[in-house]
Amino acid sequence: MNNNDYIIRPETPNDYREVENLAREAFWNLSKPGCFEHYFIHIMREHEDFIPQLDYVIEVGGKIIGSVMYCKSMLRDEHGNVKDIVTMGPLCVLPEYQRKGYGKALLEHTFKIAAEMGYDTVINFGNPDNYVARGYKSCRRYNVCFEGDLYPAALLVKVLREDALDGRKWFYCPSDVDAPCDDEEAVEKFDALFPPKVKGWQPSQEEFYIHSHSVINRE
Ligand SMILES: CC(C)(COP(=O)(O)OP(=O)(O)OC[C@H]1O[C@@H](n2cnc3c(N)ncnc32)[C@H](O)[C@@H]1OP(=O)(O)O)[C@@H](O)C(=O)NCCC(=O)NCCS
Repeated sequence: MNNNDYIIRPETPNDYREVENLAREAFWNLSKPGCFEHYFIHIMREHEDFIPQLDYVIEVGGKIIGSVMYCKSMLRDEHGNVKDIVTMGPLCVLPEYQRKGYGKALLEHTFKIAAEMGYDTVINFGNPDNYVARGYKSCRRYNVCFEGDLYPAALLVKVLREDALDGRKWFYCPSDVDAPCDDEEAVEKFDALFPPKVKGWQPSQEEFYIHSHSVINRE
């Protein structure tokens, strides 16, 4: 990859099915047999928390090889004060283009736009390996947790301004945008619109289980 071999541009309605298919290719069998992320993208675009200004694709040779989306979410402190932030994801790159810097380019491009829009904090739930090099830190470092003082290992925070978070305890209040993805029948029905693909087990599913069930107990 070099700076001239790709284009980053907003997603358009003509891209929708291609982007859903690329998400399916990227996430297939990654965290469970099959995947739901193509359905997630499909319903996310219609949700009130979706942020169209941060919906970008990356193209190489006229082909879309990566995509990133964001939605609105909030932090709430112990006194009920609320701060608007963004949640990043899904982020995906076609398997044959992964680990070449395209995901990094998509993130850096959209972080800049998010900052210009006035946001100073990005959160996502994911494998830390993919994000620490982008400046993400554990939620524990910024005192950001779920209700019940839970600091998941996979809850990652990227500040777009050094003074974004002042050390007070914040509770992360995600959007309910992904709630329909629990409906396995709806996911299956949507998946049937795509070319057949074999579901199966791979080690990344255990890795996902470990990351998504781990919490950080101490600083
Ligand atoms: C995760 C994903 C979006 C990253 O995009 P990418 O284009 O492959 O990643 P990049 O080449 O831009 O690398 C991003 C960072 O990942 C890390 N990384 C790269 N290769 C890695 C490897 N083999 N193991 C661990 N970390 C690695 C590096 O920290 C890299 O940062 P650096 O360039 O500063 O070193 C992409 O691999 C993907 O679509 N994976 C499947 C779907 C997925 O897991 N999405 C994220 C959900 S949490």
